[in-house]
Amino acid sequence: MIEGANAIVTGSSRGIGRCIALELASRGANVVVCCQSRLDAAREVRGLIEERGGRAVVAQADLATEDGAASVVGRCVEEFGGVDVLVNNAGMGQLSPIQDLSDTDLERTLRVNLFSYFYMAKHAVEDMIKRGKGGCVVNISSILGMIGGPGQTAYAASKGGITGFTVCLAREVAKHGIRVNAIAPGYIETELISWMPDDYRAKIIPRIPMRRFGTGEEVAKAATFLIQDATYMTGQTLIIDGGIMID
Ligand SMILES: NC(=O)c1ccc[n+]([C@@H]2O[C@H](COP(=O)([O-])OP(=O)(O)OC[C@H]3O[C@@H](n4cnc5c(N)ncnc54)[C@H](OP(=O)(O)O)[C@@H]3O)[C@@H](O)[C@H]2O)c1
Repeated sequence: MIEGANAIVTGSSRGIGRCIALELASRGANVVVCCQSRLDAAREVRGLIEERGGRAVVAQADLATEDGAASVVGRCVEEFGGVDVLVNNAGMGQLSPIQDLSDTDLERTLRVNLFSYFYMAKHAVEDMIKRGKGGCVVNISSILGMIGGPGQTAYAASKGGITGFTVCLAREVAKHGIRVNAIAPGYIETELISWMPDDYRAKIIPRIPMRRFGTGEEVAKAATFLIQDATYMTGQTLIIDGGIMID
């Protein structure tokens, strides 16, 4: 499913998305590398893919709007002829006690982390159904959508929403040969969690049975498993968290 497939990876200018884009390209996928504002970083990812003999294009858009999402799907169709794989990964953090959470921050968090997944899937699935070749959607959620954390109500609500979204969409599109699964990472070493002071990290590490944060590469391996090997799996969420959820 990956070799020769056309894949969109949202939020692939850095972090987990960058690792997924590079991993899919290394297995022969044509990749749309997506960013909101870090065009140079996205171009660097495209450059790495091309250096290794792969095909990639860059698409810049704010996916919190349906027009932005439609433009990214349109780019994949124009450049590569259609969409086979969508990895919904773009996201933002939001740390604020509920009494300080403004309506603007709440709406932005839900738009970026949840609405964008709807918009991207809506347009990508439309193309997959039209072409009749099936496809695959992977949604990156978070264990915080299941266990939460102080100051994370908006973020956790957006990530919890992805679980329901994944189950429903999986039921809706299975008849078209499209599988929809999610990955719920625990703490992964990226810019998103760079705000964490050392003393905060020191409190989290003992709660992780494997005693370390994960890497973007480890999440990317799970994404390729879902896309390539998990041919009888849909509507599920894979937890990649070093064991936090079993503690
Ligand atoms: N890191 C963790 O510990 C962790 C744990 C669980 C789940 N996750 C989830 O994994 C995903 C990736 O996280 P990460 O740690 O790799 O984050 P990151 O390093 O902060 O990267 C975020 C990516 O999303 C893009 N993005 C942000 N807002 C956007 C918007 N409005 N429109 C389009 N693109 C947008 C960014 O583009 P620009 O570079 O152009 O801004 C960037 O490519 C997120 O959904 C996050 O919630 C992360």
